[in-house]
Amino acid sequence: MTETVVSPPGTDEAGAAPKRLFIKTYGCQMNVYDSERMADVLRPLGYAPTDTAEDADFVILNTCHIREKAAEKVYSELGKLRVMKEGKGGAMTIAVAGCVAQAEGEEIIKRQPAVDLVVGPQAYHQLPELLTRTARARGERIGADFAPNEKFDALQVPRGGEGVTAFLTVQEGCDKFCTFCVVPYTRGAEWSRPVADVLAEARELAARGVREVTLLGQNVNAYDGEGPDGKPSSLARLAYALAEIPGLDRIRYTTSHPNDMSDELIAAHAELEALMPYLHLPVQSGSDRILRLMNRKHGRAKYLELVDRIRGGRPDMALSGDFIVGFPGETDADFEQTMDLVRKVGYASAFSFMYSPRPGTPAATMAQVPGDVSRERLHALQTLLTGQQTAFNEAQAGRTMPVLFERKGRHGAQAVGRSPYLQSVHVDDADHLIGQIVPVTIEHGQQNSLTGALVTEQKSTPLEQRGSASQAVGAP
Ligand code: SAH
Ligand code: SF4
Ligand code: F3S
Repeated sequence: MTETVVSPPGTDEAGAAPKRLFIKTYGCQMNVYDSERMADVLRPLGYAPTDTAEDADFVILNTCHIREKAAEKVYSELGKLRVMKEGKGGAMTIAVAGCVAQAEGEEIIKRQPAVDLVVGPQAYHQLPELLTRTARARGERIGADFAPNEKFDALQVPRGGEGVTAFLTVQEGCDKFCTFCVVPYTRGAEWSRPVADVLAEARELAARGVREVTLLGQNVNAYDGEGPDGKPSSLARLAYALAEIPGLDRIRYTTSHPNDMSDELIAAHAELEALMPYLHLPVQSGSDRILRLMNRKHGRAKYLELVDRIRGGRPDMALSGDFIVGFPGETDADFEQTMDLVRKVGYASAFSFMYSPRPGTPAATMAQVPGDVSRERLHALQTLLTGQQTAFNEAQAGRTMPVLFERKGRHGAQAVGRSPYLQSVHVDDADHLIGQIVPVTIEHGQQNSLTGALVTEQKSTPLEQRGSASQAVGAP
């Protein structure tokens, strides 16, 4: 094994060249948030981000364990990093963070000795200390325990980054134990951050120019963080409090579990302007028999009834979901139930996966569906879902809706923004409007995006209705 030397913290402040940090992120949005926060805790140590691993002194792979492919990608990437590290005479520190780190711990170093550090999702605040220890001695390299409160307390360093949208983790972990899923093992029990901490971070983001925040949690609608009165708050109440922050005009949240979708939250969607009409509400399967085997604790009727109630309050709600095909024991008839549920709901977007057996989960030991059967089902489901997504996008043509412009587009002065329904919207001659919420008339909808034009004559009445200076016109 090559010995790695890491400069002690503070070297950079004393005048040395900044150290370069490269983080590669796999998996869900919670990992994206965590990667940003890792960069934040490492900044005071003199680490500045770089775009390639070759340039980096410190490389972190923030990993995902959800499916076999996700986990295997990490090992092939580590193989490449080992060669790079050897090419630099060992002058590169390699860390594995995230859910593979939590699930496999020391095994990772056994399989790939070029790895210097393994750090689980609740231990990122220990990174500076772990780095220093790595420099001093080998052996104390594992930080993989569950104490989310410590993580967030210690992550109270200023948030870096730029852009008009941001992720904000408010809840971690899962108590649901679906029989296919590793998340309860890699992220631990459900835990919510106190309201005051979330609001403080959101204010910081708003002050930096963030207009839209996406609240994250493995089961975000189970949020029950401590409120100002010392009692648990709900996600709905948190959303109302966030909407009070000047500049923060849009609130989203993901991922929601059907069983935690409260009447209060459904009502908030009907009442609270800032709460966007888009909901990621995974169902996984449309068959009651499979839902039972999955331990989802909800049936198809309950899900369909929930969708009706949500649309009762907010008829234009764009729904999104996750689906697994080829779960152990899934028959053609079960799969047909999934197709039927998709036809009944009508999704604006969705993710669908072939079941992947995960070590240590109950479903991994059940009788498996042959790969070619699952592949065929996945193809049929994706064709249906893609058709629904395209139809949903096409149906926006002719409507005027507020778009939050996020970045420059590829052509000329084009800008790219998001509709309330999370669709990408491309608009010409709009790059001077980045950071603003502006009415756009949609001209076309395609499979993956919309194109539109700025509304030239801005009316004043809808401005007042929105209660926000720049989120003008056309509450959908
Ligand atoms: N908490 C969220 C999902 C987190 S994982 C929820 O309950 O909905 C994201 C998605 O990955 C899941 O919704 C599921 O569709 C998929 N997934 C999880 N484990 C899987 C497995 N073993 N094989 C295939 N897909 C899986
Ligand atoms: Fe996994 Fe189920 Fe928890 Fe979602 S609810 S994270 S699918 S165990
Ligand atoms: Fe993957 Fe962990 Fe997220 S397993 S999906 S990175 S919670």
